[in-house]
Amino acid sequence: MADNKEIVLSGIRSTGNLHLGNYYGALSKFVRLQNDYDCNFFIADLHALTTSPDPSQLHANVKNILAEYLAAGIDPEKSTIFIQSDVPEISEMYLLLNMHVGIGELMRTTSFKDKARKALGIGAPAQEGEADDEAFEKEIIGASTNKRVNAGLLTYPTLMAVDILIQKATKVPVGKDQEQHLELTRRFARRFNSFYGVELFPEPYNFDFGGKPVKVPGLDGSGKMGKSEGNCIYLIDDPKVLRKKVMRATTDEGPKEPNSPMSEPVANLFTLLELTSAPDVVQHFRDAYADCSIRYGDLKKQLAEDILAVTTPIRDRINDIMADEAYLRRVVAQGAERARERAAATLAEVRHVMGIRKF
Ligand code: TYM
Repeated sequence: MADNKEIVLSGIRSTGNLHLGNYYGALSKFVRLQNDYDCNFFIADLHALTTSPDPSQLHANVKNILAEYLAAGIDPEKSTIFIQSDVPEISEMYLLLNMHVGIGELMRTTSFKDKARKALGIGAPAQEGEADDEAFEKEIIGASTNKRVNAGLLTYPTLMAVDILIQKATKVPVGKDQEQHLELTRRFARRFNSFYGVELFPEPYNFDFGGKPVKVPGLDGSGKMGKSEGNCIYLIDDPKVLRKKVMRATTDEGPKEPNSPMSEPVANLFTLLELTSAPDVVQHFRDAYADCSIRYGDLKKQLAEDILAVTTPIRDRINDIMADEAYLRRVVAQGAERARERAAATLAEVRHVMGIRKF
């Protein structure tokens, strides 16, 4: 938390327990970053509201994620850990930044389109295109009030940009699915700076230790691992459940000829293997695939054990940490205090620049 270190910030929505996508896309990087950077990790409970969670569940989910952060190794003495709603400056700056954000650019965001389609109960487009965009816009504007797309969902990227800009973070470790939001954040920062002729906000970038941002696949053959996809391996899954999930993962009939191309479900299993297993293990199964001797059952067994080697120590700590309410409260109280200090300073600058001055 020293002044001269680069500022890192990232958050996870409190919509359930953390899964391997969250772990490899975000959490594992958080832990590695905390010795060298001014790290700030938060629980995005306001963002969770955009998908209308049950109020009683929301509170429990915040606590789960907090315990999971700590169990995975985020150290509150090295990193600032806070809950988004504990920093009211974020909400005020969200209102202010929205004055510089176009509804068109928000409506074109992929995550908005996906979630709005879900909310309205309309399927995915046959293919991306203008004609489809027009139809989609009509659907949204014409939707009856009991089938609405909430405005919070539309302005989700503004809130995420504020999370980052209010702390003046430059490094934002996130998975591949969040890169469009980061691109918007950079655009909003540039726009604000140039509109007011100031150098207030630095431009933030994803951070992946020199590698490519990851997209952790699900076990169901296609797409990414995600809570709403129902294809997750959770950090808290017990060994029996976890092994069962992995053994049930979709595969194919196996390669018929040497060096055949891989089907998507099998390539996905290899992606998971690459994330969790030692390089020689991955090579062993790659060679077995190439010469058609592979048995997917063996690969899955190995994968399940290697995932368990990562998740078991975390899982063991989660329960102990969850039981210590006083500790959890101390961590977030201290985190909120630190996060608010910088947020309040930035908000004061923003208000001043925008002409909201005190009489
Ligand atoms: P969320 O809660 O959807 O996901 C949290 C983090 O997990 C990553 N992730 C994945 N990475 C790789 N493969 C997957 N299958 C996978 N699934 C999830 C996400 O990329 C993310 O890094 N909008 C954010 C939360 C947020 C935020 C912020 C992040 C709010 N404000 C400011 C950074 C900075 C979100 O919904 O993440």
